[in-house]
Amino acid sequence: MAAWLDKAIFYEIYPQSFQDTNGDGIGDIPGIVQRLPYIQELGCNAIWLNPCFASAFGDAGYDVSDYYQVAPRYGTNEDLKHLFEEAHRRGMHVLLDLVPGHTSTAHKWFQESMKAEKNPYTDRYVWTDSIWEEPEGMGSLRGISDRDGSCAVNFFSHQPALNYGFYRPDPSKKWQQPMDAPGPRATLAAMKDVMRFWLTLGCDGFRVDMAGSLVKNDEDSRGTIRLWQNVRDFLDREFPHAAMVSEWGEPDKSLQGGFHMDFLLHFGPSHYNDLFRCEEPYFSSRGRGDASAFVKKYVENYEKAARKGMICIPSGNHDMDRLARSLSGAERKIAFAFLLSMPGAPFIYYGDEIGMNYVENLVSVEGGYGRTGSRSPMQWDNGANAGFSSAPPEKLYIPLDASKNRPTVSAQMADKTSLYHEVRRLIAIRQENAALQNKGDIAFVSDGKDAAPLAYIRSAQGEQVLVVLNPSGREATIAGAYMPKKTLYSFGEEISFANETVTAPPCSAGFFRL
Ligand code: NOJ
Repeated sequence: MAAWLDKAIFYEIYPQSFQDTNGDGIGDIPGIVQRLPYIQELGCNAIWLNPCFASAFGDAGYDVSDYYQVAPRYGTNEDLKHLFEEAHRRGMHVLLDLVPGHTSTAHKWFQESMKAEKNPYTDRYVWTDSIWEEPEGMGSLRGISDRDGSCAVNFFSHQPALNYGFYRPDPSKKWQQPMDAPGPRATLAAMKDVMRFWLTLGCDGFRVDMAGSLVKNDEDSRGTIRLWQNVRDFLDREFPHAAMVSEWGEPDKSLQGGFHMDFLLHFGPSHYNDLFRCEEPYFSSRGRGDASAFVKKYVENYEKAARKGMICIPSGNHDMDRLARSLSGAERKIAFAFLLSMPGAPFIYYGDEIGMNYVENLVSVEGGYGRTGSRSPMQWDNGANAGFSSAPPEKLYIPLDASKNRPTVSAQMADKTSLYHEVRRLIAIRQENAALQNKGDIAFVSDGKDAAPLAYIRSAQGEQVLVVLNPSGREATIAGAYMPKKTLYSFGEEISFANETVTAPPCSAGFFRL
């Protein structure tokens, strides 16, 4: 079991935009190695690296054309191995991004699969057996193959769906193969080979893209859960230390499937965006937000997932607006006090720790569309291209945030009141208190209904910590006879305890040992 996950704090790196070392305007793996000390100093001890494999880059690398090769723009397989080694030397861990649901149309499996004559890749993807029949409800790629058929897609229309079979194949549709048919079994074996390859080279596990999407006609995900249990058995046998984090958003299912952790997603029923990214986010000081629907859903999931506490709440990611688009100043600090005091491993999206902005009005880059503004180059200092690259500005992968007062790492490091220092402080406090860590229990005291404070008790090993967050610009109270023994963290004016009432001043936060 990957015990390091219990204290893991992740930093998500979008490799294109982190650090360019060869002046081509695009980030690379040597750049990540160079910045490991920065990540470590912040307090993060693990990395989730977005896909860095050979790709047609129609979806920024989520359209893999060779699972076994680092894309030349990022370096070589040797460079990646070196990154694993350097991370390990520092006691850090690296998760690669596994994209098992689909490939690029340029992948040789797909090139073979498109051929009219039968070959070992004929059943590697989900094909109907006539160009005139489309796979229902899945979208399809049609008219580009000699083979007579339509191929199901898994995301964009250039991402053909790999075939892991159908949980309930429709007997009238012979092309819907059961999960244990030879084609689907070969696909799963091929994906295990990919995992085996990178785990052998030294990676510590995977963040799995669209993990719940693999088996088709699988309404309750029973087939997909079974498939991941099969993968879990393989990992337990061959790589017991491999860590698995799913992009699934249904922890009761993913944890059953053998994942160690699941993400809260910004879409679907989680109400994650009620907190950070809606018209009136809970963490806005306007005080018009409401966290209660989020809390209700969170508790439901927490119970369903046997209180294992492995629901990960990201500060953001490459698919959603930057936190800074809707929250500013103190609001962001209180949001981080929340993110870094919840169960599950926290994930910090590169640049969120300095409050990097969403860059407005960018032309889409590599399938980014509205997401492009959250993928701009990391802002390190006041040097050329904010220290990201020595390339001419027009050659940068995505333009930099052009605003004069854009935040930089160097300026925030020099300013003790910065978001960077707040995040660093919060991480250190989390790591010193077992109750605040990934596996500590949580019980909500106040659910943030109608902008009331959000308050919860974290506990582990007989230790209890009360967390109180009042992002609103108004003083607020919660009933409860708490007698804190020690203040572990405090932001804004001090929160007070008297007459069986907790009084939280406007825009305040505190962690208290009970
Ligand atoms: C989720 C990834 O995070 C996103 O960036 C990608 O476009 C889709 N999955 C498809 O792989």
